Amino acid sequence: MTMIGLRSIVTSCRAVVLPRFGGPEVLEVRPKVEVPDLKPHEVLVRARAVSINPLDTRMRSGYGRSIFEPLLPLILGRDISGEVAAIGSSVQSLSVGQEVFGALHPTAVRGTYTDYAILSEDELTLKPPSVTHVEASAIPFAALTAWRALRSTARITDGQRLLVLGGGGAVGLAAIQLSVSIGCDVATTCGGQSIERVLAAGAEQAVDYTAEDVELAIKGKFDAVLDTIGVPETERIGINLLRKGGYYMTLQGEAASLADRYGLAIGLPAATTILLKKQFQYRYSHGIEYWWTYMRADPEGLDEIRRLSESGKLKIPVEKTFPITQEPDKDVIHLELSKNSRSCFSR
Ligand SMILES: NC(=O)c1ccc[n+]([C@@H]2O[C@H](COP(=O)([O-])OP(=O)(O)OC[C@H]3O[C@@H](n4cnc5c(N)ncnc54)[C@H](OP(=O)(O)O)[C@@H]3O)[C@@H](O)[C@H]2O)c1
Repeated sequence: MTMIGLRSIVTSCRAVVLPRFGGPEVLEVRPKVEVPDLKPHEVLVRARAVSINPLDTRMRSGYGRSIFEPLLPLILGRDISGEVAAIGSSVQSLSVGQEVFGALHPTAVRGTYTDYAILSEDELTLKPPSVTHVEASAIPFAALTAWRALRSTARITDGQRLLVLGGGGAVGLAAIQLSVSIGCDVATTCGGQSIERVLAAGAEQAVDYTAEDVELAIKGKFDAVLDTIGVPETERIGINLLRKGGYYMTLQGEAASLADRYGLAIGLPAATTILLKKQFQYRYSHGIEYWWTYMRADPEGLDEIRRLSESGKLKIPVEKTFPITQEPDKDVIHLELSKNSRSCFSR
């Protein structure tokens, strides 16, 4: 389908719009939001399900305001599963009608809480027929975050030991499943209600951080630590449990929060300085590599995620689904996050 054909079919569509930062009550369902023209590498996806990530609720409350405030109104949402409705002129790997899933970059302004979302070709992959749209929509953002840290930064390999701090959440669960599929031994911390789930995902040891002393309970040293919590205590524990040359990776890098506090011009260089200082310090004091890691789409990662999802080795639990409609009596869209699972919109 050419864009000329497409423009005559889809020029506007329904979307959940964030006009200003705040609580769930600020979100609005708008029936006619413009669908921009596709750039050559872009794909128009008709959404069948989109999931809610912590980033969406944080952005709604103002996280990243140094970047997003001038760009309001925004459409939130990173994950999507749906059908290809149109492709840009240079897209080679996908065609109209195919079922796909994928995730947008954290800084994308036009998100996926819409009937028609626009993603780059390399942010999408084919959805396995055995996985429903709702199940598929819960996977890519979390799994790509885990993939980037483990495969791209730490380059974990068969036989290595990995510690996931916070294995009960979506990124943690994806990290456990990815590493187990590679042949790593995984230990993890999580709340008591997540123990069964992380063991079923393949972790060899699960420590309830609410009931046990994590440092006493976990034995031996690790080649890599993925810290999804990223508070000073988990950072200290993670770093002390690494062997020399190991990688500590936190998902709570400070770039966005410092930019929000001091503005982009001061905040971003300050974040770089803090990161470099910590990298230098920990290399000197512990002989380890220290990283802030961020989600980024990666075609190789998406391909691995698709294969693992297809074979049932990578699953993220979905607790609730909501229709994309405004509640008639409340005029509010409830985007609540469920603990340890994804909530999804579906249609
Ligand atoms: N840097 C990036 O690009 C990036 C990308 C994705 C996510 N993130 C961030 O990473 C974090 C996790 O994301 P997610 O999608 O996995 O969230 P999630 O699905 O909501 O999971 C968070 C889980 O963390 C667990 N938890 C909380 N405190 C803990 C502690 N002290 N020790 C062990 N577990 C603890 C809880 O599990 P239990 O119920 O088992 O306690 C909770 O369910 C969020 O803060 C998110 O914003 C960053």
